[in-house]
Amino acid sequence: MKVTIFKDERALAKTLAGHVAQALAGKPDLVLGLPTGRTPIRLYHELGAMHANAQVDFSKATTFNVDEFLGVGREHPGSYRAFMEEHLFSRVNLSPERINVLDGSAADAAAECARYERAIESAGGIDLQLLGIGTNGHIGFNEPARELVGSTHRVMLKASTRRSNAALFGGDEKKVPYEALSMGMATILRARRIVMIATGKSKARCVEQVVRGPITTKLPASFLQVHRDVELMLDETAAGSLNP
Ligand code: PGA
Repeated sequence: MKVTIFKDERALAKTLAGHVAQALAGKPDLVLGLPTGRTPIRLYHELGAMHANAQVDFSKATTFNVDEFLGVGREHPGSYRAFMEEHLFSRVNLSPERINVLDGSAADAAAECARYERAIESAGGIDLQLLGIGTNGHIGFNEPARELVGSTHRVMLKASTRRSNAALFGGDEKKVPYEALSMGMATILRARRIVMIATGKSKARCVEQVVRGPITTKLPASFLQVHRDVELMLDETAAGSLNP
């Protein structure tokens, strides 16, 4: 697992935005997997700024977001779809028909998950999957559990995950949905290249476990160890526990 440490979030976001632009320049019809959360916000704004300066072109790219809350539609301000509109989709020239986010308001969740898997496959699979990591080691909404699920599926969220998403629901944890739809572990691990980003002290312990610990369903991100092309991009505080 390649680990790269940056002096701060800003430096990390700038470098990763450069990598994304480079990947798009090399393959304009790149298929990108995208995370939500606080961590990628700077990256998305950086890509928006680069696009304004004609330094990155998303016109032929396809995107697939990793997860979405169940029971909220795309117009709901707490939805990840709305988050993506605000922080990335409104800032770059992605073609709306090539933007894919799971539909949290779908009447049949299982059918929506199956549709998503088929859509990823017909797009040719994910070239570059960007990921955040939860303080409990989740990737997407694959929460620590005795067993993990391979394909896109419906999940129950942990209390800690609901708490850390309260800001999207007016700071009221009670309003955060109890369930979500998420790419599965195999969906994520099938991506040809994965870059996981983590910043801040609260991620240091689990980052160290991801890099040095055993592969365990108690820490879903530890499965990244089996992937051939994974890079962890960290700021100094998230990398804190890796220092001898
Ligand atoms: P965060 O969330 O970026 O808000 O810390 C990361 C995640 O839960 O994947």
